[in-house]
Amino acid sequence: MRILMLGDVVGKAGRKAAAELVRGLKDAGAVDFAVVNGENAAGGSGLTGNICSALLSAGVDVITSGDHVFRNKDVLEVIDGERRLLRPLNMSPAAKGRGWGVYEAANGAKVGVINAIGRLYLNVGANPYVAVEEAVGEISPETPIVVVDMHAEATSEKVAMGWFLDGKVSAVAGTHTHVMTADAKILPNGTAYITDLGMTGPHEGVIGRDAEKVLSFFYTDMPARFELAKGDVRAEGVVIDVDEASGRAAGIEAFSWVPGEELPGKAG
Ligand SMILES: [Fe+2]
Ligand SMILES: [Fe+2]
Repeated sequence: MRILMLGDVVGKAGRKAAAELVRGLKDAGAVDFAVVNGENAAGGSGLTGNICSALLSAGVDVITSGDHVFRNKDVLEVIDGERRLLRPLNMSPAAKGRGWGVYEAANGAKVGVINAIGRLYLNVGANPYVAVEEAVGEISPETPIVVVDMHAEATSEKVAMGWFLDGKVSAVAGTHTHVMTADAKILPNGTAYITDLGMTGPHEGVIGRDAEKVLSFFYTDMPARFELAKGDVRAEGVVIDVDEASGRAAGIEAFSWVPGEELPGKAG
């Protein structure tokens, strides 16, 4: 089976690109399951119920998130009731929502999805490795197919999660930095890995924000209201080939897709 994972969706342009790509790939039968990080989907920060519904109805199976998940309070109305929306599992146990789940793909296969968050700069207390190990233990009796969104600032925390889970899950993909890394690969024991999926949104800016405003802030040290960038909208992520019986990955293809161009991930 083939699983699509998309990097952080930023604003309306990102949502449109994500929806177009996921719908296109699903309609073509090119992917069976789609995981999209939506933490920046609402105006660049957070999510709303309507945005979740729109992504899900475009064919997204699970929306993962990260440090910005609760930035828009509208999400609080849906996060407890919508099991296809995840927040990092190693947040406070008192936080609303859930950090992992098992879902059914278009081909009938069961897919476990885990959303974790790193600790550098992100103010989350619980150890992500211990938390993910527990979740994999819960999911394993149900299905060998498991994908992990490791939302983290530090490259090292993400690389380490890949090695930690090699042979135990189908894929580990990093999110949060919004810049795709050039290290998509299959680790020795069969786990697909990439340090960062990149960003689904406007690339002509500073990780999704208007460059002029961000530069003003960096240059003057004075606060500026960060508007969203506009140009060079792309959807970035990976398509992973997974052997259903073993849960191991056979291939990973990274893409930076411009809406209107030929869909990625269709070959093979
Ligand atoms: Fe993000
Ligand atoms: Fe983030």
